[in-house]
Amino acid sequence: MARPFVVDIHTHVYPPSYMAMLRDRKTVPYIHDPSDKGTPRLIILSSDDDPAIPIDQRGRPVDSSYSDINVKLDFMKKHDIDCSVISLANPWLDFLSPDEAQTWARLINDDLNATCANVNSAADPDNTIPLQQKRSLFAFGALPLSAPTPDIIVEEIHRLSSLPHIRGVIMGTSGLGSGLDDGNLDPVWAALEESQQVLFLHPHYGLPDEAFGGPEITARYGHVLPLALGFPLETTISVTRMLLSRVFDRFPRLRILLAHSGGTLPFLAGRIESCIAHERKFKENGGDVPGPQRSVWDVLKTNIYLDAVVYGKAGLQAAIAAGSTDRLLFGTDHPFFPPLGDENEKWLSVTINYAAIDDTLKEDPASVAAVLGGNAVRILDLK
Ligand code: URA
Ligand code: ZN
Repeated sequence: MARPFVVDIHTHVYPPSYMAMLRDRKTVPYIHDPSDKGTPRLIILSSDDDPAIPIDQRGRPVDSSYSDINVKLDFMKKHDIDCSVISLANPWLDFLSPDEAQTWARLINDDLNATCANVNSAADPDNTIPLQQKRSLFAFGALPLSAPTPDIIVEEIHRLSSLPHIRGVIMGTSGLGSGLDDGNLDPVWAALEESQQVLFLHPHYGLPDEAFGGPEITARYGHVLPLALGFPLETTISVTRMLLSRVFDRFPRLRILLAHSGGTLPFLAGRIESCIAHERKFKENGGDVPGPQRSVWDVLKTNIYLDAVVYGKAGLQAAIAAGSTDRLLFGTDHPFFPPLGDENEKWLSVTINYAAIDDTLKEDPASVAAVLGGNAVRILDLK
């Protein structure tokens, strides 16, 4: 059988303009250039910015794989990835002051679109080669969430529809600052629903250190607790708050791609549903309001897509049981989780996910091909 066409829908960049902005900052998020000219350090989590750690060792190394698109293309070749849908990495534009959010969103989104256009036209100058026979790039745009009013966010969503390589938006869980159950986000949901752009919902903030036993415990185990547990719980909480606040009742055609196979949503969906059924009423503005009218199972099969970045068969089986094989999409999370040893080797963080997909769907090659690329082509209208 021919090798399946592979699309990576979870792959990040920090465009050079964004890197320059982080270099100018001294508070999280920022980039620090060590005095010995070593690899720059990216300090993006508040727990990274610990004054007890020497500044040259804070955060994580941020090399050219984050910002040089040729490094991404080499990574794609090495791992048999034909097409990538790139997205700005966390924390996106969340931290910008209201007066600069719109300018930066436009700049970054134009930059992402131009990067895709340049790579695609270099591979196929006359645009005559079928998608399946060339290496290509598309992108998710970023939103100016801290803009003074939601109209500016809505305006950017509509502008993104006109950029030929943009296929949706990436967003964190903070919304306008109060989470994704904030009624003031309704115009944003309406614009996403109307334009049918996919919202890629991705964690950044994790859980407070206290959830893991306090700052010493978090520091002792490095990024393991925040990334392995904090990230997936953050995603689960934010999408559950959307459900509870009836966002999916009001916007039944929203399309949301959840990072890391939905955090723990597929595994916890039954428990969430049961708890909703046993809660008599919800409170809002001092009065009682009904709970969600649509079940979490219906939302999982209608509004939600899951990436396959879960590193194991048990997680993939839960994602398939709660969603379906035609709503699951391959991703890598490049350039995070690079190999610790020989940098010429294939990345463990990628081969584990390829192996988990093969292992889970080994009796069903058509579903393997769908998860690896076919679903992304259909859902994101790649052409
Ligand atoms: N993956 C991401 O996308 N962001 C991180 O900060 C870490 C892993
Ligand atoms: Zn990611």
